[in-house]
Amino acid sequence: MLLPTHGEVTRSNTTSFPFRPNSDFYYLSGFPEPDAWLLLKQGGVDAGTHLFVLPRDRERETWTGRRHGEEGARTRFGADFAWPLPELDTQLARLLEDVDALYFAFGRHPAKERRLHRVLAKVRVGRKPGLGPSSLHDPDLLLSEMRLHKSPEELQVMRKGVEISAEAHLAAMQQVRAGMHEYEIQALVEYTFRRRGAWGWAYPSIVAGGDNACILHYVHNDGQFRDGDLMLIDAGAEVDGYATDITRTTPVGPRYHGAQREAYELVLRVQQQAIDRVVVGGSINAIHHEVLRELTQGMIDLGVLKGEVEELIEAKEHEAYYPHRTSHWLGVDVHDVGRYSLREGGDKLFEPGQVLTVEPGLYFPADDERLPEAFRGIGIRIEDDVLVTEGRPEVLTRAVPKQIDEVEAIRREALG
Ligand code: GLY
Ligand code: MN
Ligand code: MN
Repeated sequence: MLLPTHGEVTRSNTTSFPFRPNSDFYYLSGFPEPDAWLLLKQGGVDAGTHLFVLPRDRERETWTGRRHGEEGARTRFGADFAWPLPELDTQLARLLEDVDALYFAFGRHPAKERRLHRVLAKVRVGRKPGLGPSSLHDPDLLLSEMRLHKSPEELQVMRKGVEISAEAHLAAMQQVRAGMHEYEIQALVEYTFRRRGAWGWAYPSIVAGGDNACILHYVHNDGQFRDGDLMLIDAGAEVDGYATDITRTTPVGPRYHGAQREAYELVLRVQQQAIDRVVVGGSINAIHHEVLRELTQGMIDLGVLKGEVEELIEAKEHEAYYPHRTSHWLGVDVHDVGRYSLREGGDKLFEPGQVLTVEPGLYFPADDERLPEAFRGIGIRIEDDVLVTEGRPEVLTRAVPKQIDEVEAIRREALG
């Protein structure tokens, strides 16, 4: 199996975006530098783990930072063999000679794929027939199935991410005040991530006051909180390459008011029922189906929708206020790899060791005149990260308060 990671990406003129390795590459190697390649070779000459890395270079390292080099790749990252990147083509041509099947994610890295083709051409030209791989396979399915099941070591890293993210959410719940800007709370959250040693955020933080919470991937974070608003924060730290993904919706004042409270109670009840279904034999698709029914019935009860549950869902009326899915897998990517349905049909059923989010919400835009006035401008989402076990689901993010009385107690105490 051959896996490249991408290089630095230009942000503007001479500056690059912060580098973060390709997820599959990182999952298998833990190697954090750009432009590297990983070869896992089974059988034949030089079987083992090969890393191709940027070589040590005093001058370049003075400008752009220390490199692990070949020696570091072996001693710190457990590579059996490490090669300087400039030798990639010649070493790869040699190493692929006695390989029968090659796993490479085609269609993903066009420039690197062209390079691989040049190497394969080299293996074939002028040599004995039969040299080089006779079949090419996509590793995606294999790797996504592996990544879906977390080892105890991976769970330990994810628990660290959860702990840091919980501290950040709690600080935000305590410190928000009417008149503050959303970016002040964003700064507090991300400060906590970095202060506690996370790489940073796992995805751009959403900090939304009032009606801004109705924008699902709101990232401007430049509005001002008003007394009586709700604050929706969807933010999670990335620790050693693993994502956390938490959403809480907190009143800016001391309490959830009338319609806010009714909508929050509905989302919370539906979320807790959904979490209870994260058990072996259940599935993300089945949970979503139930959540749609319960939220739609709840919206009928609130007077937000009129009609019969099944007909409203059939006509996609619920999508005006609940347009997203309830869950996704979580891991090295925030929306992690792994299927939701099986190729042969049917749902992918839960197995112990999988981690997913459960994140129902309701979004009632301020300018939607079909809505009862009291509900306009309210956006609520409650999102937890849940581990499938042999028994009851383990809510990894349970340290972040979400019960109304708990949250209101925090707000009352904060406001004095
Ligand atoms: N933060 C992205 C999501 O909740 O899926
Ligand atoms: Mn999520
Ligand atoms: Mn989220």
